[in-house]
Amino acid sequence: MKNFTKIIFALLALVTIVSCGDKRTRSVQYMPDMYVAVPYEPNSVNGLTDTINGSNLKPVLGTIARGQVPYEYPNTLEAYDVAKTTLKSPLETTAKNLDNGKKMYGIYCATCHGDKGDGNGVLVQREKFSGIPKYNDAARAITQGSIYHVIMYGKGIMGSHASQLTTKERWQVVQYVLKLKEDLK
Ligand code: HEC
Repeated sequence: MKNFTKIIFALLALVTIVSCGDKRTRSVQYMPDMYVAVPYEPNSVNGLTDTINGSNLKPVLGTIARGQVPYEYPNTLEAYDVAKTTLKSPLETTAKNLDNGKKMYGIYCATCHGDKGDGNGVLVQREKFSGIPKYNDAARAITQGSIYHVIMYGKGIMGSHASQLTTKERWQVVQYVLKLKEDLK
């Protein structure tokens, strides 16, 4: 009986201590991993990131991201001319390529160039842009190489679309633009 009383007292004391703790801080953490995150914080300095400025992982020098092919022509007028005459598409003209080209064209190009490539996209109709050429503009005489080059770097007020499209998608768009050029005749 004596022991039983002691146990009751001990339990009461424990309950009192626990319940009178500071309410603003957590008491016992049963599974600390659920309170404290274990993954790396991407922008902190840790073993995986650039320890000098704490930025995210940079690609290793000389490596190429999967699905990307380096583009050797620089952003100059001379390189534009070289690309225009020598750069050729690695893709075969197929219904599937044209189809995806059309899809990408609809997303990225048609707002300015128009569904038919006549330079009369919705942004031109709303007078947001002007001076958008027709794809069959004889003075420009666009080719597969020049279209690809312009997608990579942009031209005049047209910006680069390299980051929105993979290498393959760019060539599919090129294929579709050439089809539009043909159809405009
Ligand atoms: C913001 C409007 C805009 C968008 C979007 C746009 N373009 Fe253009 N594009 C222009 C303008 C403006 C020019 C004329 C640039 C110049 O010669 O100064 C042009 C020119 C061109 C030319 C002719 C370049 C040459 O060699 O003379 C091609 C080809 C072309 N664009 C293709 C594309 C393709 C493909 C896309 C989509 C991936 C696209 N454009 C998206 C505005 C746009």
